[in-house]
Amino acid sequence: MAKTIYILNGPNLNLLGTREPEVYGTETLADLEARCVRKADALDFAVDFRQSNAEGELVDWIQEARTKGAGLIVNAGAYTHTSIAMLDALQACDVPIVEVHLSNIFRREPFRHHSYISGAAKGVICGFGGLGYELAVEALASAISAA
Ligand code: DQA
Repeated sequence: MAKTIYILNGPNLNLLGTREPEVYGTETLADLEARCVRKADALDFAVDFRQSNAEGELVDWIQEARTKGAGLIVNAGAYTHTSIAMLDALQACDVPIVEVHLSNIFRREPFRHHSYISGAAKGVICGFGGLGYELAVEALASAISAA
């Protein structure tokens, strides 16, 4: 049976497609999910793709991925810059983690330059829009296979 990659999306990412398209592009979250499923399928992985606006729910899902997932991709949205709770949950995971952002957070406002999540991630991909999700799947699959 194919191993499962969890892909967790944080607040406001449900609005992709209409939310600040000049920053985040015109693809919807469903488009990103389709990209990830296609990529993962080619690499023989299954995908569990979710979005929540609630920090606690995201923490619960990270805890679930800790035991049920082979690896984890996280776009924590604005919680990237605020959430020690998500960092703690991610640090409790032994599986590889890739942090992804659609926009290049380092070209944006200074408050976006710091990520709590990065402290638990194997690597970070940002600035490539939807392609970044596919790159994250590829990087994670390779990290899982190497482990
Ligand atoms: C984001 C960047 C964050 O700073 C922002 O709060 C988001 C989206 C990105 O994908 O570029 O909601 O994570």
